[in-house]
Amino acid sequence: MIAIKNLTKVFQAPQDVAALRNISLRVDPGDVFGIIGMSGAGKSTLLRCIAQLEKPTDGTIYVDGTDVSSLKGRELIELRKSIGVIFQGYNLLLQRDVAHNIAFPLMLSHTPKEQIWRRTQELMELVGLTAKAKAYPSQLSGGQKQRVAIARALANNPKILLCDEPTSALDSFTTQSILTLLRDINRNLGVTILIITHEIGVVRSICNKVAVIDDGLFVEQGPTAQILNAPTSDITRLLLGTAGGEQ
Ligand SMILES: Nc1ncnc2c1ncn2[C@@H]1O[C@H](COP(=O)(O)OP(=O)(O)O)[C@@H](O)[C@H]1O
Ligand SMILES: [Mg+2]
Repeated sequence: MIAIKNLTKVFQAPQDVAALRNISLRVDPGDVFGIIGMSGAGKSTLLRCIAQLEKPTDGTIYVDGTDVSSLKGRELIELRKSIGVIFQGYNLLLQRDVAHNIAFPLMLSHTPKEQIWRRTQELMELVGLTAKAKAYPSQLSGGQKQRVAIARALANNPKILLCDEPTSALDSFTTQSILTLLRDINRNLGVTILIITHEIGVVRSICNKVAVIDDGLFVEQGPTAQILNAPTSDITRLLLGTAGGEQ
């Protein structure tokens, strides 16, 4: 589904920063794959490379066997539609209500009007926000805003949902409800999820696989139970809160 081979990303200004250093990764269809690491480890850069928001310095990203850097024009548009993205800060359109935020990608892709509103209705039901159709982002809680962002990311029926710290701004109860929603989307709609986080609880709750990233390198990766039960790196133990005397 997603295969990353020897991905390197170096930011050049003002001085060279190697945000990702020769990393490889495979996400299979149906996975809820977690990438966990401390702040500055390179997590967002990785997600942005997969979402085609950032150009890798070196290495290859394959989605369903296609090298995404080879895509142009219509093929690139189709690839972008097949990947939904959500962020910690929600990135909603503040001047538009819930329904119009969710409908926005459908309008961009010139979907027929009638179909837009049918799909928007469906999506609002999916995320439990039908009653808030006419509310503006400023009138919503953090959890509700993230639900709008999730609905919007699903508008074009993506196969993959990339999530960058989707619950980091939320309290623990709201976090759990968003994680449950993501798990339902994975199970019921068959959407493969890649979730980036610095919170081990997120991994424990919904990820079947996890990779631990530190300073642009994967220090370990594997099935969640294996990594959580028998961590082999200090950084994983630190994230787990089990490092000797650290926390
Ligand atoms: N646009 C950019 N220009 C220069 N450096 C960047 C840019 N984006 C990220 N970085 C640097 O790359 C490293 C990884 O950042 P990031 O991927 O945002 O980490 P994380 O999401 O794990 O906190 C950091 O050292 C950060 O300062
Ligand atoms: Mg980040």
